[in-house]
Amino acid sequence: MRHFYVKSTKGMTSGEFNINDTAGSAGRLDIIARCVNAAFWISHSLRTDVVFHTILFGPPNSPIYIKIVGKKLRKVQPDERNISIFLKKAIERFEEDRVVETTPGIFASRKTFEDVIEEYKDCDFYLLGEDGSDISDCDVSENAFFILGDKEDLVDEEVAILEKHGAKKVSLGKISYLTSHCIGFLNVYLDRKN
Ligand SMILES: C[S@@+](CC[C@H](N)C(=O)[O-])C[C@H]1O[C@@H](n2cnc3c(N)ncnc32)[C@H](O)[C@@H]1O
Repeated sequence: MRHFYVKSTKGMTSGEFNINDTAGSAGRLDIIARCVNAAFWISHSLRTDVVFHTILFGPPNSPIYIKIVGKKLRKVQPDERNISIFLKKAIERFEEDRVVETTPGIFASRKTFEDVIEEYKDCDFYLLGEDGSDISDCDVSENAFFILGDKEDLVDEEVAILEKHGAKKVSLGKISYLTSHCIGFLNVYLDRKN
């Protein structure tokens, strides 16, 4: 299984945003929608061996954890607007005290970053950053859990949680790429390796 976690530093935690302007009115949920596209879609099909995770840290009700499971995902189309509609449903259908499957394959719940990392502690964590070890020098495991920032990198407290769980810092080079492009690259890189 491949896991991708993208932090949504300002992603809105209420559904009261304009679906036609997720960049302006939803705390850059457009970035998350593009990352979902890069995580799952191949031509005419979906990757069933991918799980995508994000935590929305924007107002007014953070944190909301959204998990998307490739092998259960139904009805979602690859375009950014359609993915955003499903993210909006996940936020609107979130409930405080239980995990809700808001649409097939998409789950919303209240979890902190530490909760998520603890839940997946059996995975091998890779923190993506320009200053890590070059990916070609890393033997990426079958059960990889990649962690990426959005417009902003993770903060020191989150990095410390990852260090406690033995995360390796991995770089794709010195250039700072868009998060969705990093995910696309990682998928192709791993496809070619296996
Ligand atoms: C747009 S970058 C974040 C901001 C960027 N670090 C900066 O200071 O401008 C989004 C995320 O993509 C990942 N990323 C971008 N370029 C990368 C690279 N060359 N190697 C590894 N990860 C990268 C990191 O996880 C980063 O947090």
